[in-house]
Amino acid sequence: MRLILVGFGTVGQGLAEILRDKAAELRAHYGFEAQIVGVATGQRGTLYHPGGLNIEQLLAVSQAHLDRYPDSLGLQRNLSIERLIREAQADVMVEASPSNLQTAQPALDYCYAALGSGKHVVMANKGPISIAYRELAQAARRGGRKLGFEATVMAGTPALRLALEALAGCRILQVKGILNGTTNYILTQMESGMEYGEALQQAQALGYAETDPTADVDGWDAAGKAVILANVLFGGQSDEHGTIAVRGIREITQADVQAAQAAGERWKLLVRVTPEGSIVKPVRLPLSDPLAQVGGAFNAVTYTTDLLGDVTLVGAGAGRLQTGFGLLADLLAVQRANP
Ligand code: HSE
Repeated sequence: MRLILVGFGTVGQGLAEILRDKAAELRAHYGFEAQIVGVATGQRGTLYHPGGLNIEQLLAVSQAHLDRYPDSLGLQRNLSIERLIREAQADVMVEASPSNLQTAQPALDYCYAALGSGKHVVMANKGPISIAYRELAQAARRGGRKLGFEATVMAGTPALRLALEALAGCRILQVKGILNGTTNYILTQMESGMEYGEALQQAQALGYAETDPTADVDGWDAAGKAVILANVLFGGQSDEHGTIAVRGIREITQADVQAAQAAGERWKLLVRVTPEGSIVKPVRLPLSDPLAQVGGAFNAVTYTTDLLGDVTLVGAGAGRLQTGFGLLADLLAVQRANP
């Protein structure tokens, strides 16, 4: 499977590391062999080699301009991203550039360019599925290509696959959960006495936060995931314009955290999604609530269904390898669908 990686930051590099470190295991267990033939970044150039790029060397130059990648016969540098996507001999485009939740651009155009040139698309970028799920799904269906977006909600923890595949046949009535790793990490660290700013810096250093972490702390990343869930499970929200009320954790002080602790409670940034609308807001949960036990960068989602009642999944919500795995899961699904 020949891949183009659009975006080569935390998540793109995480996927590359997994492909390097698990190559033998993936070949032996799943007959899966992947080759990165193209890498495109917004600021650090692009690389394309139809014969495949060397992952070790890619990772070695990943913090610098890709110009530092060594020369070899057939290597093309600095093709425009659009040209690389359209013209590369590749099977899949992996979109892992920073999420733009307002317009989804430029990632949305990249998705159409990839589908239009016969490539499957898998993404960690949350913009395209939150803004244009229906149109993208149609374009993929028309071209007989696959659209993978598991990594957009709860990193590689299979929150979407659980709802779409394992729970198919149940009606999902409501979704509730903790869907942002950064804020859950910050709140957990604040409980141990750490200041908000320091906890945020740690979340950035650990690769949990968005490129612009205000999207995390002000609730917009969680809101984007709520919209993705609404789009994918409820066909968008019944109100045409969708209704979503969003509050983040920025105003929660150390004193608030301690007051909750003294009362046997914990602050959590909760998301609720129903066919009628979504809400993202910090709430105090009693320690007896299972969601109160979900700490650090872990996330949780509870699907309320007609046949099973509540089904809850807890797992990693963010991180380099954790999100890289979400992309790998989709690549393996592409392979299963196209043996
Ligand atoms: N910034 C996101 C989070 C990354 O903290 O949850 C995973 O989508």
